[in-house]
Amino acid sequence: MNETPKFPNDLDSFWMPFTSSRAFKAHPRMQVSAEGCHYTGQDGVRRIDGTGGLWCSNAGHGHPKITEAIQRQAAALDFAHSFGQGHPVAFEAASRLVALAPGFDQVFLTNSGSEAVDTALKIALAYHAARGEGTRRILVGRQKAYHGINFGGLSVGGIGLNKGQFGSLYPDVRQMRHTNQPGREFSRGQPETGAALADDLQDIIETQGADRVAAVIVEPVSGAGGVFPPPIGYLDRLRAICDAHGVLLIFDEVITGFGRMGTGFAHQFYGVVPDMVTVAKGMTNATVPMGGVYARAGLRDAFLNGPEEMPDLFHGYTYSGHPLAAAACLATLDVYRDEAVFENAAAMAPLWEDMLHSLKGLPGVVDIRNAGILGAVELAPEGAVGQAGRAAYAALWDAGLIVRPVGDSLAMSPPLTLSADLIDEIGEVLRVFLKTR
Ligand SMILES: Cc1ncc(COP(=O)(O)O)c(C=O)c1O
Repeated sequence: MNETPKFPNDLDSFWMPFTSSRAFKAHPRMQVSAEGCHYTGQDGVRRIDGTGGLWCSNAGHGHPKITEAIQRQAAALDFAHSFGQGHPVAFEAASRLVALAPGFDQVFLTNSGSEAVDTALKIALAYHAARGEGTRRILVGRQKAYHGINFGGLSVGGIGLNKGQFGSLYPDVRQMRHTNQPGREFSRGQPETGAALADDLQDIIETQGADRVAAVIVEPVSGAGGVFPPPIGYLDRLRAICDAHGVLLIFDEVITGFGRMGTGFAHQFYGVVPDMVTVAKGMTNATVPMGGVYARAGLRDAFLNGPEEMPDLFHGYTYSGHPLAAAACLATLDVYRDEAVFENAAAMAPLWEDMLHSLKGLPGVVDIRNAGILGAVELAPEGAVGQAGRAAYAALWDAGLIVRPVGDSLAMSPPLTLSADLIDEIGEVLRVFLKTR
């Protein structure tokens, strides 16, 4: 059981996600175990998990209470679907999830963030149709946004590289400008200027006609695009424009949900309540795949006017509310509450911010951004975009710290159970690397 797993002799059969198979095979990096805020690699080296898995292991790795809950559930009820029947654990999980998000009455369960986003976009289209406003078909996204890789999320997403291989996708999409305009480098937390960029939505509505726009989706803090906190007042302005024109506001909180900002959700941190919230990742502490869409109070009512025997929504997944995921979710929410994980994130956030911004002035650092326990250190490009980021990732891996290269930014999102000592340690590894590279 505790034997070190053997190095696989076949690195070719697994077609890896978002990976250059040739680069991976040249330098395979393998994790074999994880505990708390650290991974141990196949090479026996323990490294700091500076990315919390992939923005998802919020309570740290290997929490025994979550592991036990999954084991117990697998033995009791391994699977039951939720198409017109149910099982108690999914209902209990949904109820606990809704209790965490005042203002939201239901949560539709999916298996990933990508599915959550596509579900939310479909709910938006179906919501307007159910209310006799079926002309509302335009979905608005934003440059640099990452909303997963399914057709809907990719369509509204704003990272060109991710779209290039796949043609025209959903046709009725418009994009707002991203919020990281020049002049806001080294802002601590939210940039002070830039709220007016929300008026891009107003322009789109005026150009297209309010009766054609269904929804706008944004990450409250854009994550995978490079960690960009919203300018002060920006999210409020989006809310006001949506209210004025009957457009649904969707916050994609796949990264920011479950404590990343030191509150349950980023919309609570920023005090702006959207109509839907997409979640995943920290929902089960990433132990079993699960995602979801929160629906604001009253939204689901629009779907209750059809014949009583028909589904509210012609949409769902075999594994929506999977018993193992639901059990993992319940145990995770217990751990978050009982061990004050969100509170720890809130307490650590100022130290995290100070550590990151102490790197200002080191060679090649052109911007530093932070929000909650999220951060990015942007390096000056060296050759093609991404080259400096990839080189830094490799060097930091060798130095014992795992970061996520996004272009030439080094994105970080360690577990929310981090300590002041761990923040110091991360700072030291980054400082030595930046000074000596
Ligand atoms: C904001 C956001 N939305 C959606 C997704 C997609 O989630 P998944 O990879 O679980 O499909 C991600 C993944 O990082 C994300 O950051």
